[in-house]
Amino acid sequence: MLGDAVNVSLIVVRAIHFAATAITVGVLIFRAVMAQPAPHLTGAARILVMEQMIVRAAWIGVAVTVASGAAWVLLEAAAMSGLPLGEAATTDILSTVLAETQFGMVSEIRVALAIVLAACLSYDRLPLAQPLALASSLGLIAGIAWTGHAGSSAGDIGSIHVMADALHLIAAAAWLGGLVPFTLLLAEVRRNQDHASAFVSQAARRFSSLGMLSVGTILATGIVNAWILVGSIKGLLTTEYGWLLIVKIFLFMIMLAFAAINRYWLTPDLALPLGNEAQLKAVRRLTRNSGIEIAFGLAIFAVVGVLGTLHPAVHLAN
Ligand code: HEM
Repeated sequence: MLGDAVNVSLIVVRAIHFAATAITVGVLIFRAVMAQPAPHLTGAARILVMEQMIVRAAWIGVAVTVASGAAWVLLEAAAMSGLPLGEAATTDILSTVLAETQFGMVSEIRVALAIVLAACLSYDRLPLAQPLALASSLGLIAGIAWTGHAGSSAGDIGSIHVMADALHLIAAAAWLGGLVPFTLLLAEVRRNQDHASAFVSQAARRFSSLGMLSVGTILATGIVNAWILVGSIKGLLTTEYGWLLIVKIFLFMIMLAFAAINRYWLTPDLALPLGNEAQLKAVRRLTRNSGIEIAFGLAIFAVVGVLGTLHPAVHLAN
């Protein structure tokens, strides 16, 4: 019973942690790719809307990332020691987990990166603050690769696996995390058309190009992950791990369908003249579709929350 309770909490906390870290990184990638290099779209109003939204979202993301990260360490300490949570939260157990396990040492490095990120967000106007914020956030999400199955693969395959998983995580953050500020921007356009809509057409085109690059990377690195951790069709079709991965790929395919509709049907209409009925409809539908994509993305994080706690199929289906 105790094991089950810890395991369920571990799955929930892992899912929240993956989602919060991905959103934190996604909003900063969105700012770097969308907001900055568009001088002809300057205008105080646009910059203000974007900057405030991005910094606020990043702060909320960092706070949830750190809180869920601390809970994850506690739950891992309980799972590793086999002790109830209260007893596992003693300094001895925790310091052993932090100092003597790869998970613990990587978590310490990730806490340091979260502190650097928070400092950069506090001084966001300083010249180096924004690139440093982005760099530390990329380290924060890539570091997750060393805490899971990829981090325990050995040898040359192990190096390929952990690099592929780190790229997988960054690409997932760029797409899924980026959907959050994109949806917030669309909502801003619906609220206040005159100062943002010229920008939204440009942002939508850029976001869908970033989306394409991220999807390609997610797929390629996902296949590498699956090849190493599943290893065979038998592993995919006859193990719990394999079935869960099939569910994940199915959710991914649905997200891809929405992304294709957004890119090929709705985004072109954003360039229509301001207030045009088709343009307004496109903004409404893009906002709805992006919201649906985010929901499916969160479902994928829930699936991954479980996957990382299961024995990989490759060890079971021989
Ligand atoms: C939007 C789509 C996707 C998102 C957000 C996503 C996200 C993630 C995350 C957060 C992890 C955890 C990494 C870790 O614990 O080290 C992961 C692992 C993994 N992903 Fe994905 N992924 C996506 C699509 C895919 C696809 C399409 C595939 C297969 C082709 C795939 C296969 C895997 C595998 C096999 C793992 C390893 C799980 C484990 O640690 O046991 N993913 N993914």
